[in-house]
Amino acid sequence: MAQTVGVQAYRDEFPMTSEWAYLNHAAHGPFPARTVKAVQDYAASWASPSDFDDSRNEEIITGARVGIAELAGGSPSMVTFNGSLAEGMNLLANGIDWKDGDNVLIPVEEFPSVVYPFLNLEYRGVTVRFVEKNAAGHTDIGLIEAAMDDRTRAVALSHVEFMDGYKNDLKALGSLCQSRGIELFVDATQSLGAQLIDLNGSGVTAVAAHGYKWLLASFGIAVVVFAEGAIERIRPTYAGRMSVDASWEDSEYKLNFKSTAERYQTGGMNIIGLTALHSSLSLVREVSPEWNARHTAGLIDRLAAGVTESGYTVVSTLDPQYRSQIVAITSGDLKRDGEIVEELEKRNVAVTLRGRGIRISPYFYNSNEDIDRLLEALPPK
Ligand SMILES: Cc1ncc(COP(=O)(O)O)c(C=O)c1O
Repeated sequence: MAQTVGVQAYRDEFPMTSEWAYLNHAAHGPFPARTVKAVQDYAASWASPSDFDDSRNEEIITGARVGIAELAGGSPSMVTFNGSLAEGMNLLANGIDWKDGDNVLIPVEEFPSVVYPFLNLEYRGVTVRFVEKNAAGHTDIGLIEAAMDDRTRAVALSHVEFMDGYKNDLKALGSLCQSRGIELFVDATQSLGAQLIDLNGSGVTAVAAHGYKWLLASFGIAVVVFAEGAIERIRPTYAGRMSVDASWEDSEYKLNFKSTAERYQTGGMNIIGLTALHSSLSLVREVSPEWNARHTAGLIDRLAAGVTESGYTVVSTLDPQYRSQIVAITSGDLKRDGEIVEELEKRNVAVTLRGRGIRISPYFYNSNEDIDRLLEALPPK
């Protein structure tokens, strides 16, 4: 993966950039032009039996699998698709052979779709232990380690956190969990595509992500990528015709799960969503997460200098180890921050209000001009 084309060429894929400073990818990632066309073409082909093309479907599914594996540092055979992060996290949570009295560790203020799948296991004797943040308000590996005991079976958390973009150190967490025989389930919805992930050999069991943000693939298409060997420990909760090594017309019904992560597929797949994912991946991979991380760090540095000059506070860390492509700033008054988000929207600057303030989330096609437009539109404090 190498970044070969300039930001302007990427902007041509997003015609709305002539009107908008769109800095809201942590909320929604828009379709690039190539994906609008790919989905339209697929929809047209579905209108006539003469255009049905199963081999094209296979190409899309295989291509999406290869693309996702590359972004996650995993293997194509260890990728499975589903409908949301919640579904992916449920797949992981339910797959453990829990014993009464086991526990799972989750940092406080995690995204709800990370938490509920485990709360729903209380009837199986599983306790969810919430781990407090440290004095700086961040998830802290030392506090996670301190909360572990010999009944801890899993840790679940986001790679990049949705409120302020804090990026957890997956390498350090992975080696901690691996050394204790604990599964590490990672929600990468806010990082896959935008930040480097190196799954295989990291000690992370699996990363899961929904596709409607940084993968530019809209709602209803999500992924789970397992590290090599991890599928042996996560039992499929659901089974269907696609989970097994058998012909679809086989009436002997031998439940022989596939040897790959396809064992977690059940029935016919969301091919429109996969079409969008497959097409958008061709652009996201052309850019590369490494290049994007550097590019967006530059944009956020420019933003941080400008907002600080205007009297706002940067809430997120800018520490190179923990920063990401998401940043939160505040006027000091959350209600006022909400009004500012609305004022910015009226001036075609898209950002979001979250619990820590105004959340700003640029991507590879955003430019210094987008940042300057936000700075100009930001009311004086
Ligand atoms: C960290 C994180 N995970 C997951 C999601 C989406 O979850 P789901 O796919 O369950 O709707 C979001 C959406 O904002 C998010 O920020």
